[in-house]
Amino acid sequence: IAHFTSLDALATEDIEQLIERALQLKQGASVRPLPTKTVANLFFEHSTRTKCSFDMAEHHLGLHVLPFETATSSVQKGETLLDTCKTLQAIGVDALVVRHGETGYYEPLQQQLSIPIINAGDGSGQHPSQSLLDLMTMYAEYGHVSGKTIVICGDLRHSRVARSNAHVLQRLGATVIGSGPREWFDETMGITYREMDEAVATSDIIMLLRVQHERHTDGRPFAAEEYHERYGLTEQRMKRIQPEAIVLHPAPVNRGVEIADELVEHPQSRIFDQMTNGVFARMAILERAFETATIKETR
Ligand code: CP
Repeated sequence: IAHFTSLDALATEDIEQLIERALQLKQGASVRPLPTKTVANLFFEHSTRTKCSFDMAEHHLGLHVLPFETATSSVQKGETLLDTCKTLQAIGVDALVVRHGETGYYEPLQQQLSIPIINAGDGSGQHPSQSLLDLMTMYAEYGHVSGKTIVICGDLRHSRVARSNAHVLQRLGATVIGSGPREWFDETMGITYREMDEAVATSDIIMLLRVQHERHTDGRPFAAEEYHERYGLTEQRMKRIQPEAIVLHPAPVNRGVEIADELVEHPQSRIFDQMTNGVFARMAILERAFETATIKETR
């Protein structure tokens, strides 16, 4: 079963194939419509980009999308995630796109389900479809990431985007560094720390992260202006980035916190391109899920 739960589980060639396919789809490559297949999107955490771009990708592939809302489902009566997924499988759903607050929620599902699980973000664990669209955006710019330096700035400890990207970028030959508050740096990501001023001035790709207040449990007050001055992409820092460098952010963006408001639309920002690319990256992911399923069915 072609689960898509973490890029760590995919061979490097498979990741490169997905990037290539996503780029081709953006250029207008034809799709093989999948009108006989049904998908359900289960979002247990809030989302705009991931949910809407999966919806759009499913529409472009001619998939039937079974409506599912956690707020009106039997999840509210205490039904577990596993039983919810098994129910949808029993009803005839062919693949599940799931976002859930529990890190690694997909581990038991993979053992118990015979339909693909596509991870749309698990707690502070992984966000592989975001990572794929980030890679697609970098490949669209440079054709590769080998030899490039990427700085990931901000709330690394709570970031599934940072965790997914730190691993895969290094596998693809990039140098990844981290910056932002020291206490939010995560030694387990296998990257080195660099101070913000130096990091943004020396990197090819500057990836900013949202401060994830919803995952902070220490109750300490947050000073947005101070954070912006110390760790944000300010106008001053922007003047010192490399002329060919690009700025990424998975969004939603806290304008004026991790990035100055007016820099979101800067010519070197690719933040809205990332959102456009997300549709094509997710089409490639869905195609892969169904291609593998079809191969298995016809054997
Ligand atoms: N980047 C991202 O995952 O955004 P959403 O939370 O809006 O899906």
